[in-house]
Amino acid sequence: MFWAILLQICLYFAIVALVAYWILPSHVDVEKYFHNKVVWITGASSGIGRELVKQLARHSPTTRLVLSARRENELHNLARELNLDFEHCLVLPLDLELQYDCFKSKVDLVLERFGQIDILINNAGISQRSFIHETGYNVDSRLMNINYLGTITLSKTILQHFIERQKGQFVVVTSAAGYMGSALRSSYAASKHALHGFFDSLRLEHAHDNIDVTIVCPGFVRTSISQNAFVGSGLPYGKMDPKTEKGTDPSKCADDIILGIANREHEVYVGYLASPLIYLRRFFPRILHFVLLRVKST
Ligand SMILES: NC(=O)c1ccc[n+]([C@@H]2O[C@H](COP(=O)([O-])OP(=O)(O)OC[C@H]3O[C@@H](n4cnc5c(N)ncnc54)[C@H](OP(=O)(O)O)[C@@H]3O)[C@@H](O)[C@H]2O)c1
Repeated sequence: MFWAILLQICLYFAIVALVAYWILPSHVDVEKYFHNKVVWITGASSGIGRELVKQLARHSPTTRLVLSARRENELHNLARELNLDFEHCLVLPLDLELQYDCFKSKVDLVLERFGQIDILINNAGISQRSFIHETGYNVDSRLMNINYLGTITLSKTILQHFIERQKGQFVVVTSAAGYMGSALRSSYAASKHALHGFFDSLRLEHAHDNIDVTIVCPGFVRTSISQNAFVGSGLPYGKMDPKTEKGTDPSKCADDIILGIANREHEVYVGYLASPLIYLRRFFPRILHFVLLRVKST
């Protein structure tokens, strides 16, 4: 009897603690955390990356930002729009696809300008809208090259710098699709699963070097992701899909990511769908399968 009551009390406490953990806002001082840090953001030319730059510039004016993506003009427009000057911003065009040879020289450019790198936000990525049977090898390999190989190669190029400094933080934007398969996104989901495997391993290998890894898993976020996604032939899908259109506002998404980074969270789930889907996948995979089978794929 005594043990049964004790167990019940413990259970109540555990539930209250869990609910409080989810609901209560975290009070970490974002400005203090990012003060004077050098933060490199890939995929800064649009969507989530662009919002991350905006929010960081607003919350922490002392932060020095490195903006990367392929479209250099978009990066310059953003820097101008935010009045980011030479001392606080470096526009560094970068193609994550098959240009791995130039990563070392890009890292050297950042170190020449700012002397250090504190946080790399691996946000750039491309999605997919095609069934497996209609997707060519070219699309499978491009998704892996951009989302996975480009991301880990850039991170590995910076790793030595983090080890020498005995500190640093890798942030990687994966997806809820990094936890579960999804129709029309086979290779996209595979590339995001691969990032989890790599960065979970990196976190373990370099915990003693004081190197943190924060994996961000968004659900649907209202960006150009579906327009830019590859169809089976490799052409862009070119349309905003309805779920993306109704998705989380990218500025809210950026806010959650910044808070997660400052809290040095291991994982951050962004948007109203990501957490329930990921928990369903973890604890009730058959139920998730049943649910996903009934959802219209777009
Ligand atoms: N939006 C969502 O619903 C959602 C959900 C889950 C996860 N995500 C993830 O969030 C991240 C950001 O996506 P987003 O929603 O902001 O989409 P987005 O608006 O299409 O932005 C994608 C960014 O990646 C860059 N990029 C694409 N290919 C690149 C390459 N080869 N080399 C370098 N940069 C490249 C693009 O810049 P350039 O074209 O200028 O190179 C752009 O800045 C992605 O990793 C995506 O998988 C998004």
